[in-house]
Amino acid sequence: MPINYSERIPNNVNLADDRRLQRALEAWQPGFLQWWGEMGPETFQGCDVYLRTATSTDAQGWAQFGYVKMPDYRWGIFLAEPQPDRRISFGEHKGEAIWREVPGEHRGVLRRLIVTQGDTEPASVEQQRHLGRTCPSLYDLRNLFQVNVEEGRHLWAMVYLLHAYFGRDGREEADALLLRRSGNADNPRILGAFNEKTPDWLSYFMFAHFTDRDGKYQLASLAESGFDPLARTCRFMLTEEAHHLFVGESGVGRVISRTCQLMKEHNTDIVSVYGGIDLAIIQKYINFHYSVSLDLFGSELSTNAANYYSAGLKGRFKETDRADDHQLKQSTYSVLSPENGAIVQSEQPALIALNETLRDSYIGDCERALARWNKIIREAGLGLELKLPHRGFRRSIGEFAGVNVTPDGEIIAAAEWERRKSDWIPTQAERTFVASLMKPVTAPGQFASWIAPPVRGINHQALDFEYVAALPAETN
Ligand SMILES: [Fe+2]
Ligand SMILES: [Fe+2]
Repeated sequence: MPINYSERIPNNVNLADDRRLQRALEAWQPGFLQWWGEMGPETFQGCDVYLRTATSTDAQGWAQFGYVKMPDYRWGIFLAEPQPDRRISFGEHKGEAIWREVPGEHRGVLRRLIVTQGDTEPASVEQQRHLGRTCPSLYDLRNLFQVNVEEGRHLWAMVYLLHAYFGRDGREEADALLLRRSGNADNPRILGAFNEKTPDWLSYFMFAHFTDRDGKYQLASLAESGFDPLARTCRFMLTEEAHHLFVGESGVGRVISRTCQLMKEHNTDIVSVYGGIDLAIIQKYINFHYSVSLDLFGSELSTNAANYYSAGLKGRFKETDRADDHQLKQSTYSVLSPENGAIVQSEQPALIALNETLRDSYIGDCERALARWNKIIREAGLGLELKLPHRGFRRSIGEFAGVNVTPDGEIIAAAEWERRKSDWIPTQAERTFVASLMKPVTAPGQFASWIAPPVRGINHQALDFEYVAALPAETN
């Protein structure tokens, strides 16, 4: 379905046919633009950014590329095509027709799920708003802004659902999404990871890799929802999310690549003196961001998760591809938890272990990406490996909260944790060092000392293409 760009709010949901909804969203729009002006990328709002814009939601005509000033980006409402005869594929309502309206008894829960997802979108834009000033290249600057405008659009996606299906309390929630602020003591964003700072570009790439990947798994399980408008919204969001994950994984990969190059050139593990980031520091950033992101999946055992599933609201990752009864009343799932100083495995009812099931899908994905990073090191001829820490490492939610687990999965006493934690997560000195490398590089085709150029440009453009043009004088 092509997207109608002739209206004030671009959309493929025939918004013009629903005047009330159209007016409500048009009333929300100025608040969004004001939020973007205040909390979106600083310094670069007047620049021409080589952005992609969705033209239709099918696989062929997804995007067109061209220079856009970010405040002029056409944020809008795009749902994936409806699937003919789609039925609810899991839970108590398995096999029944999908819902085109919110089922009354699940209204509160659905609203909460949508608000929680929606809140992460503007939060990440807020977390990243200072990064432009220290960009390692115009290519990276453009990618950051592409991710930012799309997170803004994901907010639109959730706000559309709130306005279209939840009446007055939906509109109030939509307004509140513009009022919370990442890291604000009085009115913070809902989830912990979205109140952390993203102080430097290594953190940013790690965030896009590990934390956006949590988003992929949350969206994928909501894309299974029996509430069809939510499923279709999430399906299209996932196509945008793929680029965010690419930015994260390839960003970290390029840092690793540059580090390896310096290690070989100077025959040392300590490349910080040559303007690179030691693998040991990269490992600590991995430990930090991976553990923060694991918490986003929630407690291993959760009756809420069971209820969402049984009600047909939130499925598993690739629910329909799984060969089981899709109701899980009799099934069990193996879960790790600490017990008397050891980590033990137990069989739990599969329904209450659904957060852990989703976390396992995520961990598998992270392991595959880690193998690709290690391949970069191996192909450079170096005998080192990066690792993902144990799932119990540095957790603050669930079975492992308050338990001191080493990256290797050993439970230790609090005092020992305190003594050794600087071996595992970035120290202040290391963060300061990484921050000291963050000098802006804005000449086309140039890259900062600590990161390798990408293999290819965006949309077949050369690496020295002017991905962001008309930079303000102070950034040149
Ligand atoms: Fe998003
Ligand atoms: Fe994202």
